[in-house]
Amino acid sequence: MAILEANSVSKQYQMGEVTVDALDEVNFVVEKGEFVAVMGPSGSGKSTLLHLLGGLDKPSAGEVTLGGHRLSLMSDREVTLIRRRNVGFIFQFYNLLPTLTAEENIALPLLIDGKKLKKYQSRIDELLELVGLSDRRKHKPDQLSGGEQQRVAIARAFVNDPDIVLADEPTGNLDSRAGEEIMKLLRRSCDELGQTIVVVTHDPKAASFADRIVFLKDGQIAGEIRLEKGSDTAPILERLGELDM
Ligand SMILES: Nc1ncnc2c1ncn2[C@@H]1O[C@H](COP(=O)(O)OP(=O)(O)O)[C@@H](O)[C@H]1O
Ligand SMILES: [Mg+2]
Repeated sequence: MAILEANSVSKQYQMGEVTVDALDEVNFVVEKGEFVAVMGPSGSGKSTLLHLLGGLDKPSAGEVTLGGHRLSLMSDREVTLIRRRNVGFIFQFYNLLPTLTAEENIALPLLIDGKKLKKYQSRIDELLELVGLSDRRKHKPDQLSGGEQQRVAIARAFVNDPDIVLADEPTGNLDSRAGEEIMKLLRRSCDELGQTIVVVTHDPKAASFADRIVFLKDGQIAGEIRLEKGSDTAPILERLGELDM
């Protein structure tokens, strides 16, 4: 079952006199339970695509369908609600609130959605356990390492039990060991919880954790490959070479 679909999605940014074609008729389907990586050089449109898929921005043309909802047919308010309840976002720079503890940051999407926290304490405990931060629950972001902050951000993205988790360069600010921990955690949440995940990355090592890689070049899909479980980076590097990326 397709949980996320982009049909002929284009995005242009108007910068005064200049029009930037960030995405050009992109077709992209994510099946439920899939772990997909999107790779491409800087400026190829990866972040733009992720923003459109998650309803953070609107395409100039084409259609995004998220969990069966055609976003173009909905009001801004409806899209906001769908995004809040059905999408978890993970960003390169974590985007945690500095004054809140780890567990408060994780709970934030519930608070914003007007939920009573008491009812969700066991969910938050479970997520702290999943990301290995049960003993850091009262720490503020500046008392956590980069890798730990990103794990808080992952737990926050999962708290609403979203249809899909979208991550934009989640390892981009981390050393290779912390980055690998993050990718293993995402892999495990896909395997054990059936979580559907799309990760944007330009790092072949990070992308090697995915089931499938979609290559983006100059705003267009340039190709894709499917990976065996436990694949290394060799087939990815080979394909990047073939695509001249
Ligand atoms: N808000 C914006 N306004 C104008 N141009 C933008 C904006 N966001 C991205 N772009 C341009 O769109 C293209 C794709 O950008 P982006 O999606 O950020 O690429 P990537 O994430 O692959 O580096 C780039 O040429 C970039 O300069
Ligand atoms: Mg980007």
